[in-house]
Amino acid sequence: MRRLLTFALLAASALSAAPAARPIQFAEQAPAGGALVLPLGSADELATRGTMLDGATREAVSRALASADFRYRAGDTLALRGLGPWTQILILGTTGEGDQAVRLQTLGGTAAQETARENGPVAIAATGLGTGAAAAAQIGVGARLGGYRFDRYRSADPEHPRRPGEDAPLTILTDDAAAARAAWQRDGEAMAEAVYFARDLITEPANIIYPESFVERTREAFRGIDGVRIEALDVPAMEQLGMNAILSVGRGSARPPRMLIVEYRGPGSQDAPVVLAGKGITFDSGGISLKPGSGMWAMKGDMGGAAAAVATVLSLAKSRAPVHAVAIAALAENMPSGTASRPGDVVRAMNGRTIEILNTDAEGRLVLADAVALAEQRFRPAAIVDIATLTGAVSTALGDEYAGLFSRSDALADQLLSAGRAAGEELWRLPLHKNYAEDMQSDIADIKNVVEGGGPGAGLGAHFIGSFIADTPWAHLDIAGVDVRSSATPTVPEGMAGFGIRLLDRFIRDFRPVADTSRRD
Ligand code: BES
Ligand code: MN
Ligand code: ZN
Repeated sequence: MRRLLTFALLAASALSAAPAARPIQFAEQAPAGGALVLPLGSADELATRGTMLDGATREAVSRALASADFRYRAGDTLALRGLGPWTQILILGTTGEGDQAVRLQTLGGTAAQETARENGPVAIAATGLGTGAAAAAQIGVGARLGGYRFDRYRSADPEHPRRPGEDAPLTILTDDAAAARAAWQRDGEAMAEAVYFARDLITEPANIIYPESFVERTREAFRGIDGVRIEALDVPAMEQLGMNAILSVGRGSARPPRMLIVEYRGPGSQDAPVVLAGKGITFDSGGISLKPGSGMWAMKGDMGGAAAAVATVLSLAKSRAPVHAVAIAALAENMPSGTASRPGDVVRAMNGRTIEILNTDAEGRLVLADAVALAEQRFRPAAIVDIATLTGAVSTALGDEYAGLFSRSDALADQLLSAGRAAGEELWRLPLHKNYAEDMQSDIADIKNVVEGGGPGAGLGAHFIGSFIADTPWAHLDIAGVDVRSSATPTVPEGMAGFGIRLLDRFIRDFRPVADTSRRD
């Protein structure tokens, strides 16, 4: 009892920790000092965007740009110190290709990362960049995403103490601060906070985030938001529904599994929902088919799909988007024990299909089999998109540049591909050949969960999940290669990326129903 209590206290204090990042503000006038970030696409822009600089400072900046042979390309930076009242003037190049919103987010993220250790306020001169208020809000989103840190368990470092000025505001300078603030509050802030929610869950170790605490964190995050219904199926409820695929994965762990359902109905939305089904393995040891020890710790992040699904609905609900969306998080811990599934076991999934579990490390597809079947039966959705850190094979094929996309519906795939481009989270479509059905035939059950020798591993995993859906348009996103980053990008610090929220938020807001082309083959 006492141990339980201490544990509850640790969990509660973790819940209340504040996110560590500079607050985002908008203003028309530059502050009198601190760091100034000055985006420039050419030498001429110094005169129009650099109006807060006095004549001598502007002249010095101009000379520095010329003498550094500054190229003004996106990604180019030049940091100048000791000029005028500014602790730093950071020049960022802006010329280049690509979607404008993505480029503005990249700019905001670079600014936040380069000035993270500045001991005082930071201002970004955004006047004349993109289209006004929306552009300023995008810079805010990028700054917030790029400035993410996870410091919950770090004690103060005497060598590098955090200085109070590192939490001073980041102000975006724009022509109409009120409009920019409104755009940020309407479209930007909810998205950034949802990504923080997901990154926290993914980064938290598995002794803190397990199926029940994932559910608690979710309830906490949605508290007070209108139009949301949350339900968590426990073991008896899942037994009643015949969800033996997810139950078989959870059986090896002392932490019981959960099937978490978060439904959001926005104002005016009567449509059939889009369901996002997320793989939520809170730790993947491999089970009896145990993984090698080196790098196993990263499997605390094997619930990144579930985090992305729930966080997308959080972003939509917080911003009152006029959509109907459901997240189903299939939560279980995959552990070896005397009660764990053995290779060769056969289980019957919710939709009646039987599965021969040849490898207990192919557990994501098992929990998702029941999640997508539940989605189809309970919601009659317009589409199901599952998102999962499913296979090492997808990262061998696509690295950390693209997540894998699988769908039998060209129309659905195209909507996801364009949402990915618009969100700066890119997908690459991979095949779902009909022969995969034959490859996955089991000797004693309806399907087996792996193919000996591997084969096209990412596609086979996708096929397996799709075979538990009867006739709903469906797509599968394999994010195993993109959800953990070994190096930072402007909007994703090194570590757990929280991939898919920007993409799925865009996808659901723009969703147009597609004709059914899914089939069981
Ligand atoms: N969670 C892993 C996939 C994974 C690997 C995610 C590396 C992130 C980084 C998944 O459950 C798994 O173990 N997949 C196996 C499938 C195999 C047994 C068919 C794999 O990829 O090796
Ligand atoms: Mn596994
Ligand atoms: Zn896994």
